[in-house]
Amino acid sequence: PSKSRAAAATRVERVTEPDMSTTQGKIADLRARYDEAVVQAEAKAQEKQHAKNKLTARERIELLVDHGSFVEFDEYVRHRTTAFGMERSRPYGDSVVTGVGTIHGRTVAVYAQDFSTFGGSLGEVAGEKIIKIMEFALRGGMPIVGILDSGGARIQEGVVALGKYGEIFRLNTAASGVIPQISIIMGPAAGGAVYSPALTDFVIMVDKTSQMFVTGPDVIKTVTGEDVGMEDLGGAYTHNTRSGVAHYLAEDEDDALDYARTLLGFLPDNNMADAPAYESAFEFETTDADRQLNTLIPDSPNQPYDIHEVISRTVDDSEFLEVQPLFAPNIVIGFGRVEGRTVGIIANQPSQMAGTLNIDAGEKASRFVRFCDAFSIPIVTLVDVPGYLPGTDQEWTGVIRRGAKLLYAYAEATVPLVTVILRKAYGGAYIVMGSKQLGADINLAWPTAEIAVMGGQGAVNILYRGELKKAEEAGEDVAAVRTRLANEYTYNVASPFLAAERGELDGIIEPAATRVAIAKALRSLRGKRAELPPKKHGNIPL
Ligand code: HXC
Repeated sequence: PSKSRAAAATRVERVTEPDMSTTQGKIADLRARYDEAVVQAEAKAQEKQHAKNKLTARERIELLVDHGSFVEFDEYVRHRTTAFGMERSRPYGDSVVTGVGTIHGRTVAVYAQDFSTFGGSLGEVAGEKIIKIMEFALRGGMPIVGILDSGGARIQEGVVALGKYGEIFRLNTAASGVIPQISIIMGPAAGGAVYSPALTDFVIMVDKTSQMFVTGPDVIKTVTGEDVGMEDLGGAYTHNTRSGVAHYLAEDEDDALDYARTLLGFLPDNNMADAPAYESAFEFETTDADRQLNTLIPDSPNQPYDIHEVISRTVDDSEFLEVQPLFAPNIVIGFGRVEGRTVGIIANQPSQMAGTLNIDAGEKASRFVRFCDAFSIPIVTLVDVPGYLPGTDQEWTGVIRRGAKLLYAYAEATVPLVTVILRKAYGGAYIVMGSKQLGADINLAWPTAEIAVMGGQGAVNILYRGELKKAEEAGEDVAAVRTRLANEYTYNVASPFLAAERGELDGIIEPAATRVAIAKALRSLRGKRAELPPKKHGNIPL
């Protein structure tokens, strides 16, 4: 009886089916299939996602790309799995939407996982769709944006699903340094699935609605006994402030997509292309804003100031897109433009931990230097660093090995490097922050610069130990003697004019001249050519 019911159903369907022997019939059939694959699927997805206050994959893509520019790929793909009764549900498009669109008129490739279909999980065909769009992006030399919202490898598909992740990781690696890769996390990213975003250049997470973890709270509880919630373990705040996995904490999905659009506006399409250059009415005369820098540095060397004051007076229209602002805030990184052209800025932040370098700051800056270098973005370094953060914690967690990354990154960089020393530049930290000896092209300093093996107070404690002891025995004011000697040391030994005398600085400028001096330096370096000795690849300390 069930057979005859099915036959009856087929007969009924046939009555309404288009006449496939005609062109009009074939077009009507296409429209019906498109309606099922995209229009009806989208309506179902909206119902599920909106109930959770989330957008669908297609809505997210629509907000990311220029209105109406999206061209979808593979909307008729369907999985072939039969295990666990999967053959009963073969939705078109499977669990990911892929395609190309434009952002500010420039083509980008996109994929967005669709949590409403099999929890966005990645099986064989979802993997194939992602791999296809990644290969398309690589071949066409365009950035790729991945929007992740997924339960990870599709449990029903086992090793086949794992294999597709492997291929994605290999493509992420092949694309690294060739096309910009951005990951936006808009839901769960669990297990090994987190390693695809980790291999990309920028990870954007949405506050409260995205999580990334290798092992979830339940497994952690079983194995280590630790009690930790999903948000604490791998929420957007955690990864932006503690782990450094994420580069931007978006307040909602709109904010995340907006950040990605703005970021792409600074970046070239690929490593053979120039970053977009914009018209700029660059002011070569000193402005009032420039002059304000002449009063920025406090007379007391221990008093902090906010480095953003300098950055905003250096880049066009004070527009600075900060990257990883919440992680290792003792160093500031991000993109701006000078004369309409993209630059990467790296600057110590005296208002956080006195601007010292630690492991986190070193790793944050190194990855940024390498990104800029890979994509031919000149680097401007602003230096005010009293040295490396002392302590057993730093030494035992590998400040030697991990701190070496920044040296390596600068020394390997072949893009134009312009460095300005604002105040302190002590010891190894002087060398690492884009010094001449590491390969910087133009090194300038403010007259407030202090370049020495260590700060005045520290140096006096070692050099004048005897004098200080004598002063103490003679009942003199030791603190006053120490300050006098430290000032003498700073004036005589740490003076930027000593570095200028030896050509280690190319010039000493008034703070007010910084913006124009940097612009002129970058102009003079536009044709820079530098090559490293041929090798398969170096061995950066990891
Ligand atoms: C198949 C999955 C799935 C998965 C979720 N679903 N994850 N289907 N494979 N990995 C399905 C659910 O069965 C459910 O189907 C629908 O998606 C929605 O899931 P819910 O659990 O109802 O949603 P929610 O409560 O929001 O929880 C989301 C979640 C949870 C936290 C992601 O689903 C979860 O823990 N999933 C498993 C995560 C995981 O361990 N994945 C493997 C990681 S290892 P129905 O039909 O009921 O709507 C991995 C290896 C990568 O990914 C490879 C590296 C080499």
